[in-house]
Amino acid sequence: MEQQILNYKIERLLGEGGMSQVYLGVDQATGQKVAIKELLPHLANHHDMRLRFLNEAQSLAKLNHPNIVRLIRYEEVENRLILVQEYVESVNLEEYITKQRGLIPESEAKELFCQLLDAFAYAHDNGIIHRDIKPSNILITPANQIKVVDFGIAKIAGGDGTSLRTKTGTKIGTPVYMSPEQVRGQVADRQSDIYSLGVLLHQMLTGRAPYSLDTEAEFDIETHIVKDRLPRMKGIYEYVSNGIQAIVDKATAKEKSARYRDCQEFMRAIKAAKLPRFSESPDWREWLRDKRVIAGLVVMLCVMLGFAGFKYSGIPEKWKKQDAAQAYEQGKLLYDAKKYDEAKVFLEKAATLGNPDAQFRLGLCYDKGKGVKQDYAEAVRLYRLSVDQGNAAAQFQLGYCYDEGHGVKQDYAEAVRLYRLSVDQGNAVAQCNLGACYELGTGVRKDYAEAKRLYRLSDAQGNAQARKNLRALLSSFAQAAPAGK
Ligand SMILES: Nc1ncnc2c1ncn2[C@@H]1O[C@H](COP(=O)(O)OP(=O)(O)O)[C@@H](O)[C@H]1O
Ligand SMILES: [Mg+2]
Repeated sequence: MEQQILNYKIERLLGEGGMSQVYLGVDQATGQKVAIKELLPHLANHHDMRLRFLNEAQSLAKLNHPNIVRLIRYEEVENRLILVQEYVESVNLEEYITKQRGLIPESEAKELFCQLLDAFAYAHDNGIIHRDIKPSNILITPANQIKVVDFGIAKIAGGDGTSLRTKTGTKIGTPVYMSPEQVRGQVADRQSDIYSLGVLLHQMLTGRAPYSLDTEAEFDIETHIVKDRLPRMKGIYEYVSNGIQAIVDKATAKEKSARYRDCQEFMRAIKAAKLPRFSESPDWREWLRDKRVIAGLVVMLCVMLGFAGFKYSGIPEKWKKQDAAQAYEQGKLLYDAKKYDEAKVFLEKAATLGNPDAQFRLGLCYDKGKGVKQDYAEAVRLYRLSVDQGNAAAQFQLGYCYDEGHGVKQDYAEAVRLYRLSVDQGNAVAQCNLGACYELGTGVRKDYAEAKRLYRLSDAQGNAQARKNLRALLSSFAQAAPAGK
């Protein structure tokens, strides 16, 4: 170990992850203790890694929150990348739970978890998504203060599903906390962070991660994540309340739209949850007292009546919605399993009941000719229904129809308008395509700065095309620069 980095005397190694080492340093002039994170030397020539490391510094620079580690400075010296942060006297939650403490009882876990939600509510509101929330990236001080670390390079470390593989092919990081969409390699957004937070909460309350690479192959874990709900916490620790189980279930719902909308909503649920009573056993009276069980029975009855020939028009709006959501869920599962013929049946039912996700996905079936004969006009009709309900994915797809002249008359201005709606909701593909509109000047005035900004936003969400476009745009500038004045 070195004696000195920059003007800091190195005291000891604090920790290491897949891509960096973190040292405790002391400023030789002031005596201030700092945490020095250095990109592993063998990664320092890796262009993407450098970008991510810088990205981490830039993300941290935007954040100023008591539960997020503070950036002090960032340096690139002699091909070394160094990020100096506030030193936090702490252990990370991984060690805290597995080595020191074991499970954290509900009342205490709630208090700690609210600090985390506060940090992520703040980060999300500032446009930053962590994408790699797991216990080793959360620090806890002796006074029970929480600090989040490891922002930004998360994406490369596997956070968004496009996991980094080293030259030998081993994956860096763990899939255990990844959301289904990240496992599928789709873009990660704040809903993905909420999923990972749900898994983290499960681990705090039971002392165990829901899956372990020690006992299962990575592929099997990924399959669980996509298909199965998390193991019941009561099965691991019987005093976990039903209320908090319901909260973890909502946070870790397979479908993003079924999760908490944001960390604020998540926090309200946690704060409202009643603490467990020690006799909280699943006896049938308790069971019947649970309003959700009653609601479930009622819904089941209605569905049965529905089969007996009832018309949906006679059923209250709320149940119609639930039924639509269930049908969509089923349709989506089948769609993801590429069983398009069967998926179509459920998606049609849900779309007819007004479910915007189903309208969008059924539109996609017609757009791509999956399970149905390709029909752009029908795709456009369905997208439009979904757009009317503000669905971001449909806004993008309908925009794309206008961009390409699929099922509508080509209209770049309309494409731009729709992309923009979708961008306003943080849709990464729309960010990329709107960026391209600015780069090429289709439907808007050419504006390279705006194109770059949009590509960067999209790239930060893991969109590979945006990264490609951004690189091409930057290198065309670089080539133009030396030749020009
Ligand atoms: N500011 C800090 N203060 C104290 N310890 C830290 C700090 N930052 C990181 N650590 C320790 O170093 C470990 C690795 O840091 P992290 O930023 O997650 O790097 P990596 O991305 O390589 O995993 C953490 O789990 C924690 O134990
Ligand atoms: Mg880490």
